Amino acid sequence: MRQGIVQPTTENIKSAAEQLAEGNMVVFPTETVYGLGGNAYNDTAVAKIFSCKNRPEFNPLSVCYASLELASADVFVNEEASLLAKYFLPGPVTMLLKRKPDARLSWLCSAGLETIGIRIPDHPVAQALLAHLPFPLAAPSANQSGKISPTSAADVADAMETESLCIIDGGSCKIGIESTIVDLSGANPIIVRLGAVGKNEISAKCGWSFSENNFPTPAKQLKHYAPGKKIMLDCRSADTSDALLAFGTPFPNSCAHTLNLSAAGDLHEAAANLFAMIRQLDKTDALGICVMPIPNTGIGVSINDRLQKAAAASALF
Ligand code: TXA
Ligand code: MG
Repeated sequence: MRQGIVQPTTENIKSAAEQLAEGNMVVFPTETVYGLGGNAYNDTAVAKIFSCKNRPEFNPLSVCYASLELASADVFVNEEASLLAKYFLPGPVTMLLKRKPDARLSWLCSAGLETIGIRIPDHPVAQALLAHLPFPLAAPSANQSGKISPTSAADVADAMETESLCIIDGGSCKIGIESTIVDLSGANPIIVRLGAVGKNEISAKCGWSFSENNFPTPAKQLKHYAPGKKIMLDCRSADTSDALLAFGTPFPNSCAHTLNLSAAGDLHEAAANLFAMIRQLDKTDALGICVMPIPNTGIGVSINDRLQKAAAASALF
């Protein structure tokens, strides 16, 4: 297994593809910034990305595909998406589209949301890597949370703990700022993040108008997955009418619907299971969902952050 900065030879790209297939992460260049990639169909691989970036909360990750045709296996490609793709893809625009019911994407990847950020990179190395993979890549920018995005392999090595990471060197990124994100999942296209492509450029090509107050701040814009049932945290007991989301050894007299985030008490495994299990319990006939205490360390901080948001949202019902 190759680690550290490697050149984008066929052999190295094949080796990187093998590492990704085994559930490991690889850093690769795109035309905007370097991405920290992992198998978007694999919950555990996606959980590794969150802990590697030290993200304080589970923000959704965009997903790189080789083409829009391949993405259409997982999301609904509507007219707006086809139009935007005609002018800008492959390239530095990310589209938010609705997830298909049979999509194989990790729920952790979209932080439980029904929309997926689709990115089709226009970089020969990114495309060569994707061509070797039978799955798309969850790929945020390859920096620690709160730091600026890296635009060279050396930047990545500076910004992250990279001893165990393979970084494919594609030189300096041509564009150097992140992709523009357009939400095409609602009635009107909305620019969610301004980036490499300007608002006017998109308006001119696609004929859309974006209103001035169309730029929600990231914090406000970001919706969180809100379950339909009431969520109770730090539970040390539960009514039989409730569902139980356990962690470690579940307490006795467990409920009819019990799922365990990690019987072994492994926080990475718990993160990987979090959104899929909440969704599953949310579909049962239980009254509420009791969640056992989760240690507030490492990726456990992100799990607790998201559980608190889900509990706060459910308290509004
Ligand atoms: O240029 C880019 O977009 C780079 C390269 C590596 O592709 N990627 C990048 O990823 O900037 P990241 O994770 O650092 O920023 C993506 C942004 C995040 O702020 C995330 O919250 C938002 O996109 N995002 C992704 N999926 C979303 C979704 N389903 N709903 C709302 N926001 C989403
Ligand atoms: Mg970023």
